[in-house]
Amino acid sequence: MTTTYAVLSEGLEKHYGDVHALRGLDLAVAEGAVCGVLGPNGAGKSTAVRLLTTLTSPDAGSARVAGHDVVREAAAVRAAIGVTGQSTSIDGELSGRQNLRLFARLLRFRGPAGRTRADELLERFGLTEAADRPARTYSGGMRRRLDLAAGLLTRPQVLFLDEPTTGLDPHSRNQIWEAVRELAGRGTTVLLTTQYLEEADQLADDIVLIDRGRAAHRGTPAELKSLIGGYAEVVVAHESALRAAAAVLDRLTGAEPTLDHEHRTIGVVASDPTLTLPRIVRELDAAGVPVIDASLRPPTLDEAFLRLTGRGDVRAPKEPAA
Ligand SMILES: Nc1ncnc2c1ncn2[C@@H]1O[C@H](COP(=O)(O)OP(=O)(O)OP(=O)(O)O)[C@@H](O)[C@H]1O
Ligand SMILES: [Mg+2]
Repeated sequence: MTTTYAVLSEGLEKHYGDVHALRGLDLAVAEGAVCGVLGPNGAGKSTAVRLLTTLTSPDAGSARVAGHDVVREAAAVRAAIGVTGQSTSIDGELSGRQNLRLFARLLRFRGPAGRTRADELLERFGLTEAADRPARTYSGGMRRRLDLAAGLLTRPQVLFLDEPTTGLDPHSRNQIWEAVRELAGRGTTVLLTTQYLEEADQLADDIVLIDRGRAAHRGTPAELKSLIGGYAEVVVAHESALRAAAAVLDRLTGAEPTLDHEHRTIGVVASDPTLTLPRIVRELDAAGVPVIDASLRPPTLDEAFLRLTGRGDVRAPKEPAA
């Protein structure tokens, strides 16, 4: 079976004056998949979304969304997608309901069908009660939910969400996550950008980690985590034992341990999947290190992210073979 890609880009480049926002971004999102585009501030996430949603055009490279070229067939792309941006397009003077109805009309989604759809979406995002007051009186989370509702008016084939939950409280964030899951469950392809690794872990089938305008790594959340192995942490009885413990951990992992003198703790990346906690404790014990506590756990995506983009304070693993 051949994979059909809802989003496929090759070598996308974009400059803003001297700023090289994208430097050859390749993306491939299979139809029906949820792709998390992860990256720090300024990595190029919003620029990628703007290019893919035809809001701006690339300086080099090409992209197809829902089978259409984003430059030559921009209108067809726009008809197939929904977008919610980092800067919301809601009119504060209009009520939530009026905003949605206005968007529906702009999308040529007229008459009762547009109104029914607007009401359905208000209900779905918990905005029915607030539906008739001006959107400027909404909280940040409510505005974001309304913005997402607007992006869903047409049941898009491909939905782009640029940092959909930044700044939201856990409850609002969960509502958005639920909505994304539901859409994906019905076959909508979703490309979402986020700075929250947990969010990508929760929602995405695949993650593309972008750094300085390029894909630095890609894979499933589990693959990205396995790339960097686990993390071992050892607490020793006295500070004077830290050095001996560090020597043992260095030998066992080949990675440079990080020492926290105040808490008498040593942490080290343990990329070897065969290294077990009992072995670590045995070796420390054999070297006469008084261990109080020891743990070996999988890395969080935050650790993976910091290390894979070379921004961690721990030694990065060797670049994996492509
Ligand atoms: N309209 C613009 N004019 C000038 N520079 C821009 C413009 N848009 C983006 N940039 C620059 O391009 C780079 C990438 O920006 P982009 O907004 O794509 O990053 P991002 O990954 O979305 O960051 P954030 O997490 O802060 O939203 C940044 O250096 C930014 O300053
Ligand atoms: Mg952005």
